Order: sequence, then C-alpha cells, then structure tokens
Amino acid sequence: MESRFSAPGKIILFGEHAVVYGKPAIAIPVSDMRAVAWSEPGDGQLTINALDIEKQFSLKSKNNQFVTLAQTILQKTGSNEPSLTINLTSTLPQGSGMGSSAATSTAVCRALSGYLGVDLAANDVSELVFDAEKIVHGNPSGIDNTVVAYEMPVYFIKGQKPKTFEPGKLFHLVIGDTGIEASTKETVSNVRKMWKVQPSLMNGYFNEIERVTENGKKAIEAGEEDLVGELMDENHDLLNSIGVGHDTLEKLVEIAKENGALGAKLTGGGGGGNMVALAEDKTTQKKIHNAITEAGYRAYQTSFGEQA
Ligand code: PMV
Repeated sequence: MESRFSAPGKIILFGEHAVVYGKPAIAIPVSDMRAVAWSEPGDGQLTINALDIEKQFSLKSKNNQFVTLAQTILQKTGSNEPSLTINLTSTLPQGSGMGSSAATSTAVCRALSGYLGVDLAANDVSELVFDAEKIVHGNPSGIDNTVVAYEMPVYFIKGQKPKTFEPGKLFHLVIGDTGIEASTKETVSNVRKMWKVQPSLMNGYFNEIERVTENGKKAIEAGEEDLVGELMDENHDLLNSIGVGHDTLEKLVEIAKENGALGAKLTGGGGGGNMVALAEDKTTQKKIHNAITEAGYRAYQTSFGEQA
C-alpha cells in the first residue's frame, strides 16, 4: 500500500523583526496547507520528483535541499541508494514566509525514512531538515524546521534551541495575502538602518514586542483568545512603528476587523506579504476569509491547537 507522508507550513504569530535583535518570536504550524510526499518503485536510482515545479533530482544533482537530505539519511542509516522515486507536491506558496522549503524537506525526509524502515523522532527530522535548509536559506534560524517537524507552536530566541509548547485550545486563523512580493532581506535591512539612526527608540519598540510575545505565549497556553487577539493588534502597531507596514496590509487588517477578527497583524517580513487574523469560531473565520477573497485577495483558513 502506498503511504503518504506530509508536513505543515508555518507562520510567525509574534516577534518577527525583533527576533533579529535577540528577542523571542513565536511561530505556529499551518496544518491546513501541507507538503505531501509518497514513494513508488524507481528506475534503478533515487529520484525526487518535484511535481509542482516539474523538476526531478537525483543524488548527482548539485546544491539541492532534497539531495543533501537524502545523502545524510542514507549515510546515517548505512543504506545503499534505493531504486525509488519520491513524488512531492505542496499547497504552500514558495518564498512567502510560510515555511515551504522546510515542509517539502520534512515530507521527503519522512517518505525516505519510511521506505527505509527507519523510525525518526521529530527532533531527528528537525535536525536533518535544518541541514537541508542551509542550502536554501544560507543561515537559517532553526525556527521553520522546528515548527514544521514537531507541528507545534515554537518559542524561539536566536542562538538558543527552539522550544515547543502546547496551546490551551483550538485557535482559528485566516491568512490574507496582499499579493505584493516583499523581500524579507530588504525589510530587515531597512529596520537595521532605522536602528542605526535611532537606536534607543528602536530598542524601545523591540522591548515592547518582547513583552507582547511573552504575553502572547502565556495567552496561547492559557487558551485566552481575546487576549491573543489584543496582543496581535499591539504587535501589528509596533511593526508599523518600526516601518515594515504597507497600505494593503492595513486594508486586509481592516477587512478582518470589520468582519469580527479578535486581532490581526502582518506576519513575517512585512512590506507586503501576508496578514494573519484570529477568529473566535469557524463561522467568523469563514466570514473573514470570504470578505478578503471578495475584495480580490487570496486567503487561507487554518487552525492550530488540536489535531485537525
Ligand atoms: O517571513 P519569514 O517567516 O521568513 O520571517 C521573517 C522574520 C524576520 O524576523 C523578519 C526575519 C528573520 O530572519 O527572523
């Protein structure tokens, strides 16, 4: 029987940008958008068949996240190259801060280890994917592979081992896509320029974001969704203060709030990209989702806190 292996995407719920300055951030899994991998008999070698981009990779392919991953797994388990094709597909948009590369690597990692009969713990998967992520991101923080491999919220401080934690209830989210491609590298560098000019002002904002993030973790753990919503609003205002907002993000936040969101904020790098809104129940979640799509933007519904 064919087994399918999958992994979720992720978004940052609190603390983006401040995390670059040593403050904590919280990322959560996006379980409704996933990368899926399944294997079938190969033609004498190992092939990763990336269906969405219509590309195939073998162990001879250079500089590829899946090849690095497969080589490490084969080496660690003392296995020979199997005659196997691993098919891969994903509903996660690439390059949008939703953890697409960590999710696809995790799905491939699980499909290959599953075929080899090796039982990998979430931490093993996370570490293998972290190494593969270096091919894509150069110097990844470690947050994506952790949240994706564990499929749990993660509390993260740069240079420290990411910590997973348990939400106190099921949280309903809507992600809205501005459709504006923004470079995280650019927004991070703009924040750096502002920080150089006005360090005490910017450090003050980062301290505020830290407080919001710490309280956000406690509120998620306690299942206090009203408070999580308020803190998301506060985090959004602070992100605007550090200059990473955008008119279209404001528009999406406004639509979400008008349709009953408990809170809404930009997520990830900002300057465009995605917005995330919290809804108290499935009905409001759907209402926000529909309002965003009716306004002409792409939107996704997801939840975290219980196995979907
Ligand atoms: O959009 P993402 O999920 O890649 O997050 C970017 C987060 C920043 O804090 C803006 C940058 C970083 O490297 O942490």
